[in-house]
Amino acid sequence: MAKHTMNIPADFIIGAASSAWQTEGWSGKREGQDSYLDKWYINDRHVWHNGYGPAGATDFYNRCSEDIALMKEIGLTHYRTSINWSRFLTDYENVVVDETYADYVGRVIDELIAIGVEPMICLEHYELPAYLLDKYDGWSSKHVVELFVKYAEKVFERYGDRVKHWFTFNEPIVVQTRVYLDALRYPYEQNTRKWMQWNYNKTLATAKCVQLFKEKGYGKNGAKIGVILNPEVTYARSSAPHDQYAAHVYDLFYNRVFMDPMIKGEYPEELLQLMEKHDITFEHTPEELAIIKNNTVDYAGINLYYPHRIKAQTKAWNENVPFHPSYYYEHFDLPGKKMNKSRGWEIYPKIIYDMGMRIKNEYNNIEWFISENGMGIENEAVFKNEEQIIQDDYRISFIGEHLYYTLKAVEDGSNCKGYMLWAFTDNVSPMNAFKNRYGLVEINLENGRSRHLKKSGHWYKSVIADRSLTVDLDEEYK
Ligand code: BG6
Repeated sequence: MAKHTMNIPADFIIGAASSAWQTEGWSGKREGQDSYLDKWYINDRHVWHNGYGPAGATDFYNRCSEDIALMKEIGLTHYRTSINWSRFLTDYENVVVDETYADYVGRVIDELIAIGVEPMICLEHYELPAYLLDKYDGWSSKHVVELFVKYAEKVFERYGDRVKHWFTFNEPIVVQTRVYLDALRYPYEQNTRKWMQWNYNKTLATAKCVQLFKEKGYGKNGAKIGVILNPEVTYARSSAPHDQYAAHVYDLFYNRVFMDPMIKGEYPEELLQLMEKHDITFEHTPEELAIIKNNTVDYAGINLYYPHRIKAQTKAWNENVPFHPSYYYEHFDLPGKKMNKSRGWEIYPKIIYDMGMRIKNEYNNIEWFISENGMGIENEAVFKNEEQIIQDDYRISFIGEHLYYTLKAVEDGSNCKGYMLWAFTDNVSPMNAFKNRYGLVEINLENGRSRHLKKSGHWYKSVIADRSLTVDLDEEYK
């Protein structure tokens, strides 16, 4: 172990993130305003840990002022959340705004700005209205693309004068990967072609929102529009060509499928060929591809949690099973890896540095920041001291190491502007609900969802105040 101290640049973002559906709860939600997630929770409550879910969440809808006061206490520079598309409108076709919900969003934005926390707003963090899933098969439909752009316009009209950071989607690949590629979530339909169509339509929707944002001049006051992606930092098991190729194909299907069109304006030729070969090409027109080409994002938030290790697929494909990218790869279980056992995710902080270098070298060194990184831990109550403060030293080490590699990437020329922790308070995860806790602030479910800063909250506060990070590292980056 060696101690390292790094200075944090004055304008470097040190913030925290969350989303609407994972915090708000259903207070004030009207009939017909369910999101896809609400519907999944309503249909399949048994898969949600201890029955908790979006219904109660952290009750941020009623307690936002309390949480914002805690953000002030910690000194966050930025806070990201989403607007819940399913609640922002009462009529998705005619884009009729729910004034009560819109007032609440406006209040959150104003309160954040008033205390010096810059709001970052995502237009969708999985909150696809259930109505649009039922009626149009969700993102399968180009009509839904148009409705999303109309919704975005209403949002920009309302808050575009004061919000400087906009994002179309959080992790646009996730819902359809869990639902249509791997059939792990409601409504459990395996359909690789649909997976690819959703991927494409979300890219198209992003480009159309960027186009609208530019045409209407929402960027004139220095505001930017981007996307939050979750590219998986992929390492091949070995240097052998078959493993290298497996990792390369994995990267095409899960990372470059969004990074290339959204940042560079074009799909990789090799990915297009693979889609053709496996008959999963998305429906598209040359006009749409031109919109994608001409409307790339201003910047990108990158969510990074753990590395993905890949080896070549060795089993023969069952011809009766439709194509899945795992035709080419298998996951590789690295012996001796460091683990967060609660979440089952490997801990390897250098992923951030490696992503930083990749963006620098392969993505025109576009402006980016870590939009999520964090550690979900089970049964944190056992770490309480006599004053009932959770002593989450493991989280302090985790953040310290990851922030260190973020700052290293900056030092080595990557255009990285910040680090945002997932999450500000504990909140509801898909299915895992409150099982794994991520927050700087504890939500005590046994005590009316009361809020308490953890040791990491106090530590984060001192890092922000001092603009300096001191961390013990297992090994020095060379
Ligand atoms: C990110 C998502 O992928 O990971 C969040 O943007 C999510 O919504 C976070 O909560 C942590 O993952 P999980 O599954 O433990 O909640």
